Amino acid sequence: MATIPTDRSPDSTLAFLRAGYRFIGQRCERYGTDIFQTRLLLEPTICLRGRAAAELFYDADRFVREGAMPARGQRTLTGRGGVQGLDGDAHHDRKAMFMSLMTPTAVRRLGQLFADEWQARLPAWELAGTVTLHTEVASMLTRAVCAWAGVPLSDGELDRRTADLQAMIDSAAALGPRHWRGRLGRLRGEHWAGDLVERVRGGSLSPPDGTALRVIAEHRDGEGHRLPRRVAAVELLNVLRPTVAVARFVVFAALALHDHPAWRQRVRDDEATGQFVQEVRRYYPFFPVAAARVRRDFDWQGYHFPQGRRVLLDLYGTDHHPEVWPEPERFRPERFAGWPGDPFTLVPQGGGGHLTGHRCAGEWITIELMKRAVTLLTEVIRYDVPPQDLAVDLSRMPALPGSGFVVTAVRRVH
Ligand code: HEM
Repeated sequence: MATIPTDRSPDSTLAFLRAGYRFIGQRCERYGTDIFQTRLLLEPTICLRGRAAAELFYDADRFVREGAMPARGQRTLTGRGGVQGLDGDAHHDRKAMFMSLMTPTAVRRLGQLFADEWQARLPAWELAGTVTLHTEVASMLTRAVCAWAGVPLSDGELDRRTADLQAMIDSAAALGPRHWRGRLGRLRGEHWAGDLVERVRGGSLSPPDGTALRVIAEHRDGEGHRLPRRVAAVELLNVLRPTVAVARFVVFAALALHDHPAWRQRVRDDEATGQFVQEVRRYYPFFPVAAARVRRDFDWQGYHFPQGRRVLLDLYGTDHHPEVWPEPERFRPERFAGWPGDPFTLVPQGGGGHLTGHRCAGEWITIELMKRAVTLLTEVIRYDVPPQDLAVDLSRMPALPGSGFVVTAVRRVH
């Protein structure tokens, strides 16, 4: 049995936070493998990247999710008791609940609500002179996803809810004040979402059939039990929070259009828009890793994986793996022309199957919202991009251009 190359440092947590998205890739290059072991949060952790690794990682016979997410992430990003930490039948049942929300009609409807919000804001943008795209798109997405999910949202609440949802995302890998802001956002968010669920169950709130709020409030597990209030709140936030997070991908799409202006014309074609959006999801950093634990001892490629060991799959590193993606550091949407699709190579939102595994439930929504945004940015408005800090710091997780992407002189094309 070969020994997994091992980092000598007694603990690499700070190195991981410092290196960010490149932490696993840099060490893989150093060891000349796609696997190594290190200690993170004082615990031995196997790190993997690449296509074969992704296929292994998404084999539910070999890994479980229970206990894989560190407590800090649960207190901010995911909450406790949600679909992310479930395995087996409990996971299948809960995941089916999420996927029932993702019909093509429902996905298009969310896209339309977002486009309507964008159109409605245009007069204010034209007057404002200067607009920070990340702030504006996050706020539009909060309104759109609440309307879509059957969640009532007053104008007075909008900024607070948007800020809380964003704080949960922004704090995922943070220490200090950013972490505490995320905890506060989650606390307030779960309280809000829990109240909504109770009002639906009590009959004082009646969201339309098929909306996320109604489906989650009324969901019964395999034994006929409703979700506990706190778990239902976590699951409602599992729809609202990541939809608002799509604002980051919209900003990256705007940045890509800015850096590669020829694509402003090319994306007028639907197929090219699809390729462009895939490349934005591949190229720009979002979630660095996914985490699991070994279900029971097994061997793979001559390496031993002991039961209970934490394993991280490098999502960013797999999306940038030179053997999978030629010239991975070049932004080339053409690479997706005729791409047959592969559930284990393009993994910004996880790999494997949507229904059977832990792949992101909102991937189709994400793609729809990004396509709408690209069309709005190229066909509906014109704008100037003044000098600003557009650098994307790969040691900052989750990443974003420093300025949040400021545009000026926004005008409507038609
Ligand atoms: C901003 C774009 C998004 C990114 C980068 C993203 C990324 C991810 C990643 C990396 C995972 C974990 C995969 C794993 O554990 O193996 C995940 C899971 C999940 N995502 Fe997303 N996501 C996004 C948008 C969305 C949206 C819009 C929704 C819902 C409407 C959503 C709902 C979920 C849910 C419910 C899970 C848990 C799935 C499970 O454990 O079975 N995500 N996402």
